[in-house]
Amino acid sequence: MPNKPTYRIAPSILSADFSRLGEEVRNVVSAGADMIHFDVMDNHYVPNLTIGPLVCEAIRPHVQVPIDVHLMVKPVDRIIPDFAKAGANIITFHPEASEHIDRSLQLIRDHGCKAGLVFNPATPLDYLEHVMDKLDIILIMSVNPGFGGQSFIHEALRKIAIVRRLIDDSGRNIMLEVDGGIKIENIAQAAAAGADTFVAGSAIFGKPDYKLVIDAMRGELAKV
Ligand code: DX5
Ligand code: ZN
Repeated sequence: MPNKPTYRIAPSILSADFSRLGEEVRNVVSAGADMIHFDVMDNHYVPNLTIGPLVCEAIRPHVQVPIDVHLMVKPVDRIIPDFAKAGANIITFHPEASEHIDRSLQLIRDHGCKAGLVFNPATPLDYLEHVMDKLDIILIMSVNPGFGGQSFIHEALRKIAIVRRLIDDSGRNIMLEVDGGIKIENIAQAAAAGADTFVAGSAIFGKPDYKLVIDAMRGELAKV
């Protein structure tokens, strides 16, 4: 039997209280979060505007865990060095937002961060074919990007399963992350399909007791 994967829970601060973000990230890490998911929206690639490198730099001293920057911006390249300098550990972007995907991935790695591609529900996986050797993480969106609190799109499970096979066939150590509508009730389904890293915004920051939710999620993952 294959080894059980290492599961990681990555709370998205999109649903945190922005007026006291330092405290929020400290609390969620004490509650058991493995990394902080940092959603960057530009009101151009997606119809919403969130946070940039200055906020990443501001929360960096508050936590030791990796900061996982999910870029929903177009263009991509100009902002990558800024996030690396601001303390990001992982940077992912949407392939349709970059003119030169291979170059953007290399740029992220040249700045000492782990690099990854993000796939929207309708984005084909073909982009993966020639860049597997440059990927540390693949993120499958289970909602259309732009807002927290949306419902999980079930078709994402099939896509996760396909990517799981591609990763296993590659023999490379690539994280498989799922983002959008993840909660206690469906996290096990996403894990069974092959995901190992789970973004959850409203399911964690929308609740009063973060540890209760994260423990319940780990309980569900233990059953997979
Ligand atoms: C959506 C963002 C997600 C979002 C997840 O564009 O990429 O990270 O914040 O939020 P929930 O878990 O509430 O769907
Ligand atoms: Zn995200």
